[in-house]
Amino acid sequence: MHTFTGRDLLTLAELTPDELAHVLDVAEKPVAELPRFEGASAGLIFMKPSLRTRVSFEVGCVQLGVHPIVMGPYDAFSRHETVHDTIKVLERYVEIIVLRTFAHSHIEEVAEHASVPVINALTDDYHPCQGLADLLTIRQHKGALQGLRLAYVGDGNNMAHTYLIAGALAGMDVALATPAGYEPAAAAVEQARTLAAHYGTGATFSLGTDPVAAVSAADVVVTDTWASMGQEEEHAKRLRDFAGYTVDEALMGRADGAAVFLHCLPAHRGEEVTDKVIDSAQSVVFDEAENRLHAQRAWMSLVL
Ligand code: CP
Ligand code: NVA
Repeated sequence: MHTFTGRDLLTLAELTPDELAHVLDVAEKPVAELPRFEGASAGLIFMKPSLRTRVSFEVGCVQLGVHPIVMGPYDAFSRHETVHDTIKVLERYVEIIVLRTFAHSHIEEVAEHASVPVINALTDDYHPCQGLADLLTIRQHKGALQGLRLAYVGDGNNMAHTYLIAGALAGMDVALATPAGYEPAAAAVEQARTLAAHYGTGATFSLGTDPVAAVSAADVVVTDTWASMGQEEEHAKRLRDFAGYTVDEALMGRADGAAVFLHCLPAHRGEEVTDKVIDSAQSVVFDEAENRLHAQRAWMSLVL
């Protein structure tokens, strides 16, 4: 029996492999089979822009009978109000808090103070909701997760960290190719290795700078923007530093013939991925975007 009530979702590492599989199972359930939470409210705080996360959380809340209240930097954590005071106020109104912010320590502090469940809607270091949606998408298209080779090409960012942890729990072979100086955080790699060993999932990890080596025989090829939110001013430098890391048809040709292509979106066509790849039959990016809704609705229904 799984116990999810009241739990936070900050990185995916909070989940056991078994719990992760259960969340994906619940995500496949029709809305009509899920409980309703009439009278409950969710506080959704966005300190950064969002299309998919905001809309999928709002729709997911409505499907569960939960009233969503969206706030921006003008509303929450404004006027020098402390994190403590902000959360102590919010939890008197809402049954769940969803936060997209910059430093991961910010959401950790929120979770420390909150007596209601907190969901990470993206920090500089992790994007667990996207991780759930991506695993669901891969499972739907490939039938299972265990033993698949997932190649991530690009920046060692919040998505790279999320794939390391997701792969560790799901028993995947995760191969990363990042330019020198853009490696994932050592702590995230270490955590992934520790989780894989702890649960004995059989996951493996390889890190390097060669996209061809990473993508060779991959079942899943993934990339993400080269300049994440908050790094806008580095865009020109990053375009130079990431030369050769575009996922194009030649690179996709190195993957398994039945490989799928994922991207959390928004995509920067012509930079990290070409039109030909993202518009190809191998691309499942819009299923992936849809699955944000199903995965988050599942998680909210479990923790509520
Ligand atoms: N993938 C994702 O999180 O999209 P948004 O930034 O639009 O929410
Ligand atoms: N790495 C990207 C993901 C966007 C969904 C960012 O943080 O901007």
